[in-house]
Amino acid sequence: MTEKRQLNEMLDRPVVDERILNFMRHGQGDFPAAIYDLEMNAHQRRVPIIPHETAVYLDFLLGLIQPKEILEVGMAIGFSASLMVYGHEERHVDTIDRYDLMINEAKENFARLGVEDRVTILEGDAVDILPQLDKTYDFIFMDSAKAKYYDFFPYCIDRLRVGGVLMIDDIFQGGTVFDDLETIPKRVRKIHKKLNLLLDEISGHPDLKTSILPLGDGVLMVQKQTNKSFHYMLEKL
Ligand SMILES: C[S@@+](CC[C@H](N)C(=O)[O-])C[C@H]1O[C@@H](n2cnc3c(N)ncnc32)[C@H](O)[C@@H]1O
Repeated sequence: MTEKRQLNEMLDRPVVDERILNFMRHGQGDFPAAIYDLEMNAHQRRVPIIPHETAVYLDFLLGLIQPKEILEVGMAIGFSASLMVYGHEERHVDTIDRYDLMINEAKENFARLGVEDRVTILEGDAVDILPQLDKTYDFIFMDSAKAKYYDFFPYCIDRLRVGGVLMIDDIFQGGTVFDDLETIPKRVRKIHKKLNLLLDEISGHPDLKTSILPLGDGVLMVQKQTNKSFHYMLEKL
């Protein structure tokens, strides 16, 4: 396995035709200079941020939803968090990460972009932080450890208002998510199993609306329809 794959495996295994991908990555226009610089800097250093096509969609979607309170699970150096609040005085993001190096760099980035008063960093493991949250959010962006998406899902739904949207990044495992388990390398089998469990559990669920998009390594969109609890999912593990 190359170092490149280790750092950002799924960014290098696009699930759509390469010419289409190239247009989505390079033909859709750039973000404002401060966000563009952060994005380019992250890509040059291969920091695992969302690919450009997912960022463009996220920016477009939030323009429609007009969220005020946002939760992010997986901040890294703060690219997607900055994108969500930059130029939007009315928005606030609570963003979770557990990795000191990322957190320190994110703090510098938020200060440089002048968005630090619109961002609250929640430092620690989302496993511990999510059950303690009591705010209600209009939009939640989940972009962290994929093996934990299933476990985090009921807590995210708890914290979402009815009608609110949960966006989950990286669900296709480079297009292998529906391959037979025996063909999946042992080191990623847990992720494969848990992503399949999540997709099986929530697709077509009467208390949710869902949609899957072939952006980056796949995006799962979920809209909460009712106040139903999804903690029963944890009892199935
Ligand atoms: C893909 S990066 C996030 C990229 C960011 N959303 C962006 O596009 O700019 C994933 C981040 O999630 C964090 N992470 C993974 N699992 C976590 C967990 N259980 N609790 C807290 N942070 C976690 C990692 O430290 C990493 O910084």
